[in-house]
Amino acid sequence: MVNIGLTVNQKLFEISVDENLRLIDLLRDKLGFHGTKEGCGEGECGACTVIMDGETVNSCLVMAFQANGSNITTIEGMEKDGKLHPIQQAYIDAGAVQCGFCIPGMVLSTKALLDKNSHPNRDEIREGISGNLCRCTGYNKMLDATEMAIKYMEEEKE
Ligand code: FES
Ligand code: FES
Repeated sequence: MVNIGLTVNQKLFEISVDENLRLIDLLRDKLGFHGTKEGCGEGECGACTVIMDGETVNSCLVMAFQANGSNITTIEGMEKDGKLHPIQQAYIDAGAVQCGFCIPGMVLSTKALLDKNSHPNRDEIREGISGNLCRCTGYNKMLDATEMAIKYMEEEKE
């Protein structure tokens, strides 16, 4: 077992973990953040995407002990004061959510993109979510949602 400390959604957790425990299992099974989804378990689908120290990672490929000292955002950390993040709202408004399984990872990849580039063009948005597979939709609705989110975030600043 290894003792680790990490911040998830602004809250500090100190916990003893098995060396073989994956970050996704720590988040879901030990800390209760079930919004992080497991699809392939092999780093191919992006369903398990979380933001770790500003970068997206596939949490099925990261060991829990590797997250020691890190700052993680999961989908549960997106809303604020009971209000959805503008990216989440835009995904709903643009009709980009069908079964929803890919959406937590997709939204977090969108957030990581917009945190670095507040006005990406369509190709840059496509590239930003290229690690996230969706079996329900074409990806156009996600691109529309991101453009809508950019507008919502600008309106919030005004
Ligand atoms: S579950 Fe991690 S990339 Fe598919
Ligand atoms: S909405 Fe179903 S996998 Fe993307």
